[in-house]
Amino acid sequence: MGETLNASELLNLIFSYITKISATRNHDEIIDILANMSRELTGADRCTIWLVSDDKKSLWSKVAHGIDNIVIPIDTGIVGCSIAQREKIIIDDAYDDDRFNKSVDLKTGYRTKSIMVVPMHNEDNVIIGAIQVINKNNDGVFDERDLERLLLASTYAAESIESALLLKEIEQTQSELIFTVGSIGESRSKETGNHVKRVAEYSYLLAIKYGLSKEEALLLKEASPMHDIGKIGIPDAIINKPGRFNDEERKIMDTHAFIGYKILKDSTRRILRSAAIVAYEHHEKWDGSGYPRGLKGDEIHIYGRITALADVFDALGSDRVYKKAWEDEKIFQLFKDERGKHFDPKLIDIFFENLDDFLNIRKKHKDGYNG
Ligand SMILES: [Fe+2]
Ligand SMILES: [Fe+2]
Repeated sequence: MGETLNASELLNLIFSYITKISATRNHDEIIDILANMSRELTGADRCTIWLVSDDKKSLWSKVAHGIDNIVIPIDTGIVGCSIAQREKIIIDDAYDDDRFNKSVDLKTGYRTKSIMVVPMHNEDNVIIGAIQVINKNNDGVFDERDLERLLLASTYAAESIESALLLKEIEQTQSELIFTVGSIGESRSKETGNHVKRVAEYSYLLAIKYGLSKEEALLLKEASPMHDIGKIGIPDAIINKPGRFNDEERKIMDTHAFIGYKILKDSTRRILRSAAIVAYEHHEKWDGSGYPRGLKGDEIHIYGRITALADVFDALGSDRVYKKAWEDEKIFQLFKDERGKHFDPKLIDIFFENLDDFLNIRKKHKDGYNG
């Protein structure tokens, strides 16, 4: 097939891959697509994309058609050479070449014959990995034209990988920041450890089972940790008061819902706007007896209804400075009693139908590990 591609077919092929790549934001998927593109452009049987590890000591294969991901020392094999010398390599028969490392073939039972490798570097000319294609179709060998095409793919691959990595970093930073911000509210509510993480996980599960899309469930997962962010606006004297609040103090404490809403509501970011809803409505109750607005039933946004349940389930089941964790049976009884009162009945049903999943989340994010 590599032989018969003319210029316009080639362009079409490249464009179709570029379209696929720009449609995904998932790093692994992008690399997958790039590997397929390289293989198709060069008429090879397999393509492996190698990335240099963070400590620069090894190479790990991200996508290897036909083999599981593997890690090799950075200075071995043809790929290692290509990276060390920054050179493109074409080999007609690997077994005639001393640099070839047969160990992968031995492990997989595959017979490597022709190989072509090009190193990938980023804009700063730092090598980030290499693309390797193996075994030209019909027992052929790779030629200059194939090399040109692989170079084309490699330039594009390096760019996509770099921007996907950056995007991943931005997304991770964003998530981390949200938990950090969320835990400010937590520390002011004397809640401990992984409370916000568990609330995030419970909320996601409830959202999915309720029938929200995965995208929306993820949005809520990011937003729900910020439910108590408004507590940053409550005076220390009240926050730190040992024992019960009097009516006046309780009233002030309850303003945290509105304060949180006020802080977040004008954001242009979807996550923060969703967090504004969560902050505003997580103390509303299904029967209208909650605060701050006394909303009823599905007047309360589904994000608020979900976070309310997730938050209460976690708060009751955790030790706090001022109380011991409730026994599970006691929590379940309360949930049954409050079905249709405090909580959306449908969500309570979902909770009991998926009880094991909720308990597993609790177990997985127990307090004390990184609390
Ligand atoms: Fe709250
Ligand atoms: Fe909470």
